Amino acid sequence: MALFLFLVIILFVACCNIGASSKTLLDEQYNSTVSDSIVHQVDNDFECVDIHKQPTLQHPLLKNHKIQLYPTFAKNIVRNRSYSKIVNECPTGKVPIYNRTRRHQIVNNSSSNLQIEDFQYYSQSSPGYHTVTLDTTQNVTFHGAYAFIGVYNLSLQQNQYSASSIWVESGPQTQRNSIRVGVEVHPSLYEDSRLRITGYWTVDGQKNNGCYNYDCSGFVQVNQMKNCTLGAPIRIKTGIGSTKKEFMGFRIQQDRSTGNWWLSLVPKPVFIIGYWPKELFTHLSTGASLIRFGGQTYAPPNMDSPPMGSGRLPKEKFKNSGFMGSLQIIDSDYNQNDVKPKDMKRYSDTDSNCYDLWYHGDEGPFWRQAFLYGGPGGKCNI
Ligand SMILES: *[C@@H]1O[C@H](CO)[C@@H](O)[C@H](O)[C@H]1NC(C)=O
Ligand SMILES: *[C@@H]1O[C@H](CO)[C@@H](O)[C@H](O)[C@H]1NC(C)=O
Ligand SMILES: *[C@@H]1O[C@H](CO)[C@@H](O)[C@H](O)[C@H]1NC(C)=O
Ligand SMILES: *[C@@H]1O[C@H](CO)[C@@H](O)[C@H](O)[C@H]1NC(C)=O
Ligand SMILES: *[C@@H]1O[C@H](CO)[C@@H](O)[C@H](O)[C@H]1NC(C)=O
Ligand SMILES: *[C@@H]1O[C@H](CO)[C@@H](O)[C@H](O)[C@H]1NC(C)=O
Ligand SMILES: *[C@@H]1O[C@H](CO)[C@@H](O)[C@H](O)[C@H]1NC(C)=O
Ligand SMILES: *[C@@H]1O[C@H](CO)[C@@H](O)[C@H](O)[C@H]1NC(C)=O
Repeated sequence: MALFLFLVIILFVACCNIGASSKTLLDEQYNSTVSDSIVHQVDNDFECVDIHKQPTLQHPLLKNHKIQLYPTFAKNIVRNRSYSKIVNECPTGKVPIYNRTRRHQIVNNSSSNLQIEDFQYYSQSSPGYHTVTLDTTQNVTFHGAYAFIGVYNLSLQQNQYSASSIWVESGPQTQRNSIRVGVEVHPSLYEDSRLRITGYWTVDGQKNNGCYNYDCSGFVQVNQMKNCTLGAPIRIKTGIGSTKKEFMGFRIQQDRSTGNWWLSLVPKPVFIIGYWPKELFTHLSTGASLIRFGGQTYAPPNMDSPPMGSGRLPKEKFKNSGFMGSLQIIDSDYNQNDVKPKDMKRYSDTDSNCYDLWYHGDEGPFWRQAFLYGGPGGKCNI
């Protein structure tokens, strides 16, 4: 019996006095059971390509790149590749690569706007983008981050997006290196309003460079399974207010010996998806200076901002709000540790009726360091 990615948490909804801010936010009792695969099979959008001939290697910086088949830090958990009975895997030696010509047309305006998203978040001159995050404050080097991200269906319109992500970043503003991983609803990218595993990277503050998933060269796919890819849609069984909480866990981790940035789905079993090679980066190649956890949305100037998280505010409690838990960082010695409240600060560029983030630190043995976040969006410019 295969194991799957996420646990279903059964809550007792009676609980908790919202007013008492010293109370924990996610302290409802929970129960966990193993459930079905959270990620859909996506046969038709992918073709199987020789792992050593994947299009990403056409990137000029990857001319001499030697594919790393599995991360150094996970040698002992990589299984003997013999998923032969599974229909949605590529044959040995091949990996699923999104067939761009089949479905996805780059939508010019929204796509080029989207390329400048991450680097304007501290500037006031970026209408349309809204970000609510919990950020590290220490002046140290990080080599990765880990989080469980609650997953909800959201309904968005064309040219909007709503992302729930982990960011790893380094470098001054105009040469900002950034990788963002997590889940995202992004109709102009995917041509639907489904929540999907999404990765994004850039190295120059988005001036010339910035890219989602496999839309350009950069990400090296190593997993053979078509559901362990960037862009894979997530099947969500429960909704707002449910007594079961669904989440997906993500880890972005730099390989100590190669410097490559690996993306894995966690916690059990771990699915290693692939990596962004060290060669792509100017600053992240030696580690990250900032880790961020939270949500970001975009809407064109004439449109309201879309929902974030579950689309409900933290004041509606764990029962209804979006959440992230098990927040961890991988430190300068490559040890994975819970974040510490004193080393984190909340960032928000909007008013708390649009999106909000409530962080009270430790939420018990399962959720550990966790927060509630998100909201309905609307007119969010302040
Ligand atoms: C967990 O679920 C099992 C089976 O559904 C049930 O017997 C048990 O009481 C539950 N425990 C908690 C703490 O809810
Ligand atoms: C992908 O699909 C396989 C077979 O259906 C399943 O065993 C596995 O758990 C899925 N992976 C993810 C990440 O959901
Ligand atoms: C596991 O890997 C070993 C060494 O590569 C190989 O000889 C063996 O046939 C593999 N087993 C299966 C079930 O694929
Ligand atoms: C990608 O999709 C297009 C359009 O359906 C098709 O013509 C092409 O053969 C596909 N590429 C591969 C390598 O399958
Ligand atoms: C996008 O821009 C390119 C070049 O700027 C142009 O050739 C193409 O037709 C445009 N596509 C759309 C959908 O506007
Ligand atoms: C791009 O923007 C221009 C001007 O804002 C507009 O006329 C054009 O229709 C837009 N194209 C797309 C593909 O959205
Ligand atoms: C961060 O640490 C480095 C090296 O210890 C130091 O050179 C730099 O000034 C520090 N930056 C800040 C903002 O404290
Ligand atoms: C979420 O959306 C998917 C795709 O539209 C649908 O199959 C699924 O049932 C929805 N889940 C819930 C809980 O509404």
